[in-house]
Amino acid sequence: MPTYMFPKTMPLYIVSYLAYIMSQKTVFMFLLLAMVGTAMVEGQGTRVGFYAATCRRAESIVRATVQSHFTSDPSIAPGLLRMHFHDCFVNGCDASVLIDGPNTEKTAGPNLLLRGYDVIADAKTQLETACPGVVSCADILALAARDSVVLTNGLSWPVPTGRRDGRVSLASDTSNLPGFTDSVDVQKQKFAAFGLDTQDLVTLVDTGSQNRFDSSFFANLRSGRGILESDQKLWTDATTRTFVQRLAGLTFGPQFGRSMVKMSNIGVKTGTNGEIRRVCSAIN
Ligand code: HEM
Repeated sequence: MPTYMFPKTMPLYIVSYLAYIMSQKTVFMFLLLAMVGTAMVEGQGTRVGFYAATCRRAESIVRATVQSHFTSDPSIAPGLLRMHFHDCFVNGCDASVLIDGPNTEKTAGPNLLLRGYDVIADAKTQLETACPGVVSCADILALAARDSVVLTNGLSWPVPTGRRDGRVSLASDTSNLPGFTDSVDVQKQKFAAFGLDTQDLVTLVDTGSQNRFDSSFFANLRSGRGILESDQKLWTDATTRTFVQRLAGLTFGPQFGRSMVKMSNIGVKTGTNGEIRRVCSAIN
């Protein structure tokens, strides 16, 4: 609770009135913060601990699977993070990127280098044994992206779950994905279309081929050694530069998790929408 100081000469009734207003304001601010906090954690129908009663081991099974694949091939960590991003920007975070077949999202140019499909398939097989028909592929992907960041020394964050899997996957829908030659304005527009602001763009944007998500990426931008053309543009553009300046020198911390929760809630299907796929590479 903040302590307010009043001038000694102020009449008592004014002091108590001001104290009353401030306490109302404090309560209001508290409620507002609580509401914002809840919205961030719960997103659009997703919530932390969605599987607590229906599949208690869901998160630990995903974590152990990511961990064991990571041990033999650390490149699956950036692979899974990027796959989740590419899933969310096309038809929402609904695992549509995992569907096999002609002209599905995974056949489109921007998705050709995605990796980590086998990790998701492995986790799904184990989850179907532990709790058949309960855990969605979209949630596995969101959890695996978080676990990947943690395995590469990033800070953890609670992932709201409860997503359901989509039934549509079209290569032609992938134009929502930002391209590496897009101008900063176009990148900002593509993020804004999903409720992600400039801060989210700079926080989340491409960590390139680095296996560790640390701030050296931002330090490189500052010194003109952006990994990609689009990265360097973030520094040369004045509006995004302020954010890069703020982030450079910090390790990937709480802001990364906050922006990830926003991204992970893009267009989620919950309740009776979508389905729980039996196999992640095919609709039921
Ligand atoms: C303006 C937005 C973005 C652009 C233009 C962009 C572009 C790219 C490109 C061209 C690559 C290299 C692919 C390759 O040759 O292997 C890449 C890799 C990567 N991107 Fe992005 N990206 C963007 C945003 C993001 C976001 C929001 C994330 C994560 C939340 C992300 C995570 C990654 C990761 C982890 C890799 C490395 C993948 C791997 O090693 O398998 N990117 N990105």
